[in-house]
Amino acid sequence: MTIRHFLSLDDLGAEGIRRVIDRAIAAKRQPDGRTPLAARTLAMVFEKASTRTRVSFEAGMTQLGGHAIFLSPADTQIGRGEPVEDTARVLSRMVDAVMIRNHSHDTLERFAAHASVPVINGLTDRLHPCQLLADLQTYVEHRGDIAGKTVAWIGDGNNMCHSYLNAARLLGFTLRIGAPEGYLPDAQILAAAGEHAMVCDDAASAADGADLVVTDVWASMGDEGDRETRLADFANYQVNRALMSWAADDALFMHCLPAHRGEEVSAEVIDGPASVVWDEAENRLHAQKALLLDLLETR
Ligand code: CP
Ligand code: NVA
Repeated sequence: MTIRHFLSLDDLGAEGIRRVIDRAIAAKRQPDGRTPLAARTLAMVFEKASTRTRVSFEAGMTQLGGHAIFLSPADTQIGRGEPVEDTARVLSRMVDAVMIRNHSHDTLERFAAHASVPVINGLTDRLHPCQLLADLQTYVEHRGDIAGKTVAWIGDGNNMCHSYLNAARLLGFTLRIGAPEGYLPDAQILAAAGEHAMVCDDAASAADGADLVVTDVWASMGDEGDRETRLADFANYQVNRALMSWAADDALFMHCLPAHRGEEVSAEVIDGPASVVWDEAENRLHAQKALLLDLLETR
């Protein structure tokens, strides 16, 4: 049987994304207490820090009756240079799935190419598809179908922005991007989104009439070196009350977290009535449980 990985939203496709989200919403509303992943193990490889991704996958596996193992470079042979291909082969002989968060998307693809169990992208420098499952679930729970809606991406054209572009293409919403010069998303991912993506001149034009406003940190993990330059470059891209006033009256605000109040978002917005960030964070758990079941139950 072909192994199903989840390296990007395209691995699920539009139908698969909808299936996983529907399942996540249903199980969240009415938990059935079943443990379909009893005796199954998930290895979680983290090259970078994490709170939500680690805890949601670990708690999710526990709730489904399985077990998760946290592996960091600090205390495994991965950190001492064991080839990623060898690690993938070995873990595949012992566990049922691997979730991996690493610096380079190329490394993730090499890992997946040598794994014989499903590999889940827990964030790379290029994509963060698990977060999108949670964001889409959150939108559907609050407002219904996202198809045809307008989403404003404000700030860095980073891994989250790339996954939003993929989601816009697959699910049929429009992503308006308000990013400073030099911080636009990858040209190929942007082009692939076609008519579903639009680069705007400034943050206000991106937010104008938007149904959902989303932002993320100005310096992602690995970009902290030029933090001071970034703070200056992004100064006009804060999501604050003035920017939210451009959006639709019932617009929602999301942020994958961790957030820096006073930088990419003001406290009055993230802690205000439009913000659904706590539902969004909780939904990492529900969406990932649904994803794990989708990938593992068919094996
Ligand atoms: N949003 C998110 O992926 O959070 P963590 O970095 O805490 O996992
Ligand atoms: N863009 C951020 C997301 C963190 C969840 C980063 O890569 O650090």
